[in-house]
Amino acid sequence: MATDFDRLVEELQRQVLEDARAVYSDKVIEAFYNPKNLGRMPEPDGKGVVKGGCGDTMEIYLRLDGGRIGEASFMTDGCGPSIACGSTLTTMVQGMSLDEAGEIRPEDLLQALDGLPEESVHCAELAVSTLREAIASRA
Ligand code: FES
Repeated sequence: MATDFDRLVEELQRQVLEDARAVYSDKVIEAFYNPKNLGRMPEPDGKGVVKGGCGDTMEIYLRLDGGRIGEASFMTDGCGPSIACGSTLTTMVQGMSLDEAGEIRPEDLLQALDGLPEESVHCAELAVSTLREAIASRA
């Protein structure tokens, strides 16, 4: 049976989600609440770690499979949008060659997320910079 406390928690969660929907796209919210490819990879083929101007760090790990990216994962201590960026970017690159992945621009990631508010655009730039470092670590 739901207690008053359960109902309060439910109401707070509903309010938080409603506030988030006013600012972020459904894709950002989905990737934030259910991030894919989250976690450090043991013995990766490529690794990038970049600290952004905001002070948050993004890590991206790549595992190659016959010259293509077979697996990618990320870790961040950053904001919600950075989690959405890491999840979406590491999903986008799977199956790409390193050259193809290196051509991904922050604009491409923003488009895949149906945009981010202006103050969160740097989170997408941080994710793409980290991917480029992971690719460069391999070259
Ligand atoms: Fe630092 Fe988003 S605010 S990564």
